[in-house]
Amino acid sequence: MRILSVASLGFLACSAVPAAFSDDPPVAGARGIGDPYYPDLGNGGYDTLHYELVLAVDPVANHLDAVATIDAMAEVSLASFHLDLAGLEVEAILVDGAPAAFQRDGHELMIEPERALAGGSRFQVVVRYSGSPQTVPVPGIPVDGVGWMHFEDRVFTLSQPSGSMTWYPVNNHPRDKATYEFRVTVPETYVVAANGILVSNEEREDGRRTFHFRASDPMASYLATMNVAPFEVREMEGPGGLPLTFYAPIDAREGALDDFDRTPELLEVLTEWFGPYPFESCGGVIMNESFGAALETQTIPVYGGREAGIGTQVHELAHQWFGNSVSVDSWRDLWLSESFASYAGWLWREREDGSEELDARLRRQYEFLCRRGDQAPADPGAERLFGLGVYLRGPMALHALRLRIGDEPFFEVLRTFAARYRNATATTADFTSLAEEISGADLGELFEGWLYGSEIPDLPEAELSCAESDEGNG
Ligand code: ARG
Ligand code: ZN
Repeated sequence: MRILSVASLGFLACSAVPAAFSDDPPVAGARGIGDPYYPDLGNGGYDTLHYELVLAVDPVANHLDAVATIDAMAEVSLASFHLDLAGLEVEAILVDGAPAAFQRDGHELMIEPERALAGGSRFQVVVRYSGSPQTVPVPGIPVDGVGWMHFEDRVFTLSQPSGSMTWYPVNNHPRDKATYEFRVTVPETYVVAANGILVSNEEREDGRRTFHFRASDPMASYLATMNVAPFEVREMEGPGGLPLTFYAPIDAREGALDDFDRTPELLEVLTEWFGPYPFESCGGVIMNESFGAALETQTIPVYGGREAGIGTQVHELAHQWFGNSVSVDSWRDLWLSESFASYAGWLWREREDGSEELDARLRRQYEFLCRRGDQAPADPGAERLFGLGVYLRGPMALHALRLRIGDEPFFEVLRTFAARYRNATATTADFTSLAEEISGADLGELFEGWLYGSEIPDLPEAELSCAESDEGNG
């Protein structure tokens, strides 16, 4: 589902008009969606609308037996098109009910339907596949691999940026969001935690259970998650009756689920800052003791065993607004996700510890950046995608904006950004022009310096300058 932002209306006007294409000769869909960092991620020529993933999981043997049904819209007449799928064995593919030919090349799954797909028409792909899912490595990412992670007798899926293709065939890029349904069958005593709402949980004749989840809000593929473990489950209510569901393995550290006692309060505070919570549900999953990471999977962040502290929760919950509802249009825009979630952490500290604490922290971090902060947040390069630029200099760029335009316009910019690009994608230019629109200020130099410059700009409102701190140190 490509919900076009204002910036892409030109594209809509010239290329998404179905009638213009239905008579054109069919072409081969592109093997990449056009991401500058990951040219082979995602695919061109169509737009996915809905994924239904029917998965039978053996968490002990790490075996998956699956049928994925994908509803999509051809944007041009297609003789063939690609999905992304890494590893696993494809048994059969149907397009609109008819068997289709397919070939594999790395993670590219090229599909040739019996008859070409007319531009502007809807079609359905069914992929039957199975095997033992494995993670895929991503250069520059601070974990061994992403995607389907198997630990002894449990499975967790953390897929940023490219891991979704390790467990289902997908148009693997945040620019093409879709809704999801999961029907996951697991041995008795196991529980499934996935995005959205649990519709049903039924025991089958063979004793296994099928958990049916529906995620009705458009979602980027890296935010889809499905986790299998002997979970203990706790349900709570968030602001406005929002259903919250939390999961921790029964053998997790004592009181792990108590980490979530303050989640309703956190959601309330985030709503004050950023506007209405964008999704139908919320919650969290705690994984193995051994894993040191967290990911903002939509409606249900997954936390490493010791990573569900308040600071990390604020970060992952803030991502629901920035990163998840407002998604990056390409991976080079990642600061629109990570820097905003990290700045929510600054706001939380300010709220808990007071503005003097925030000022002291700002001074410390600024001096640290003067020594090592050459990495710019916007377009940091694939190798430094999750580096200091997006996690530290980016939030400081937002703070510089706040100091320049004032608190009220600043929060109005954040709330308007969340509202205007809700369930869509945005670019860095979308954000910077919105900030100028709301503040009425010329912010070209401020953004150029903070987002792209090789030097850390001065912060005159806080009397900070790297030139001075150099002198001070020297
Ligand atoms: N988005 C995660 C966060 O909230 C970062 C995860 C980094 N690891 C990864 N595999 N992408 O900080
Ligand atoms: Zn993050």
